Parts: sequence; structure tokens; C-alpha cells
Amino acid sequence: MTPAIEFKSVTKTFSKRDGTVQSVLDDVDFSIPAGKTTVIAGGSGQGKSVTLKLVLGLMQADSGQILIDGKDVTRARGRVLEELRMQFGVLFQGAALFDSLTVFENVALPLRERTRKTEAQIKEMVGYSLEQFELAGHEEKYPAQLSGGMQKRVGLARAMQLEPAIMLFDEPTTGLDPVMTQEIYHLFARTQANFGFTSVIVSHDIPKIFNLADQVIILDNGKMDVFGSPEAIQWSEKPHIQEFVKTTMGDIYQSHLVEK
Ligand SMILES: Nc1ncnc2c1ncn2[C@@H]1O[C@H](COP(=O)(O)OP(=O)(O)OP(=O)(O)O)[C@@H](O)[C@H]1O
Ligand SMILES: [Mg+2]
Repeated sequence: MTPAIEFKSVTKTFSKRDGTVQSVLDDVDFSIPAGKTTVIAGGSGQGKSVTLKLVLGLMQADSGQILIDGKDVTRARGRVLEELRMQFGVLFQGAALFDSLTVFENVALPLRERTRKTEAQIKEMVGYSLEQFELAGHEEKYPAQLSGGMQKRVGLARAMQLEPAIMLFDEPTTGLDPVMTQEIYHLFARTQANFGFTSVIVSHDIPKIFNLADQVIILDNGKMDVFGSPEAIQWSEKPHIQEFVKTTMGDIYQSHLVEK
């Protein structure tokens, strides 16, 4: 089966003000299997968000190929790029809502822009997802009137509105309380079981997020280590991975599946 996303020898650098070059991705290869959940972990500033922006063609790689369903996004422009992007539901780090639109209008936006649904259909779909994210009753509020956690949930509701083939979540639960975090995870697990989309989740919520993961990618110093299961991480002999396990997962780690 063609992977949903594939990076082949991708390099991404930034020139810094002092004239030095920062290598964020150094000749990395990985693939994201379709219909599965991949978690990307790694320290702050290691390039997790940059990786997602490369996938969407919002940033250009210096070299290498990035394939979405077998099509090279690094060469795509204009309409082709638009069409590639249509397959994605995206939650950027920070909810990135439109301040001048209400909660209802923020969530309705993808339906208005990309479908021909009637007003009644939109009302029903948005109402249903606001309920799922425990936002019922807040339809008419503006983002500035919401807590950070609520904004995040509006962003999630919007990202999932079109039932996209691939979901990219950048820190979907940062700023949410533990109960809401758990509920969002259950919702992910359930929605994925129902729709079978591919999801890529960047998260610091380790080890909890690993309950959702089929594959884990750890990004460190421009290199990626790919693990076929969260458990496999602890068998790595690489010192920086062992350090990661110790600091984020504790000495004994057991994974259990999220109840669906
Ligand atoms: N547009 C840009 N111009 C220059 N440098 C950039 C740009 N975007 C990102 N960087 C640099 O690339 C590195 C990786 O950034 P990125 O945002 O991907 O980190 P991250 O892994 O998502 O971190 P965090 O966990 O804090 O969100 C950082 O050192 C950052 O300063
Ligand atoms: Mg980031």
C-alpha cells in the first residue's frame, strides 16, 4: 500500500542571523502509513512544526522529495498544490481561529468554502461537532471570549469538519485539562475507528499520547528515528533515545490501548 506521506532524503536548513546555518532536517527518510496514527515527538525547536509545514507545502525543502499518496508536493504549485492540501485537516500549534468570526462560523468555514451544503445541513453538522467537543451553547461567542482549551477544541472541530483523509495535529491537547485531554484522545480513537483516516500528531504529552500511536517518530538534532510501536522505543540502544525514554516515559513503561 502506498504510504500516505513519504519523506525521501529531505533536508531543511535555516540561515541564522549570525551567518551560521541551522540544519533542522538532515537527510531524513520516513513514511507515514495510511489509516494509522503516527506520533511525532522531540524537544522544543527540533523541527516538528516545520515537518508539518513541509508536508503541506507551506515551506519548501532544500532538497529531497515529499510524497503525498505518491505525488510529489515539493514540485506542486497552484491548483495541484491546492488539491493536495484539500486532503488534509489541520490543527496548527495555537488554534489559529478567525477572531472576527463566531465559534459557529469558524467551524462552518470549511463547509462553506469547500462544499455546497445548505444552511440547514451546515447547521446540523456544525451543531453535531460542537456537541462532540463540548462546545454546545458557545456558538455565538468569539474566540477572544473563550479559554485556551476551548479555542483548541474549536480548532479541532474545524479541522475534522470535512472528514479529511489525513489529519495533522500540532499539539492538540496542550493547555487542556487532564479530563478534557483524555476525552479528546477517546474522540480521536473513536473517529479514527469510524473513518479510518491517517493521523499525524505532534505531541509532548508522553507517554499518554502513545496509547493512540501505531508508529512513533522521534526527531532529534536533524535526524529521525522511526519506531513501529511505542514499546519498541525502550529497546533502542541509541543513547539519546534511552535518555528520552528515561525522562519522558519513566523506567517501566507499559502501553495499553485506548478504549474505543
Ligand atoms: N521561518 C523560519 N525561519 C527561520 N527559522 C525557523 C523558521 N521556522 C522554524 N525555524 C527554526 O527551526 C527550528 C524548528 O522549529 P519548529 O517550529 O519546527 O520546532 P518544534 O519542534 O515544532 O518546537 P516546539 O515543540 O517548541 O513547537 C527552530 O529552531 C526554529 O527556530
Ligand atoms: Mg512546534
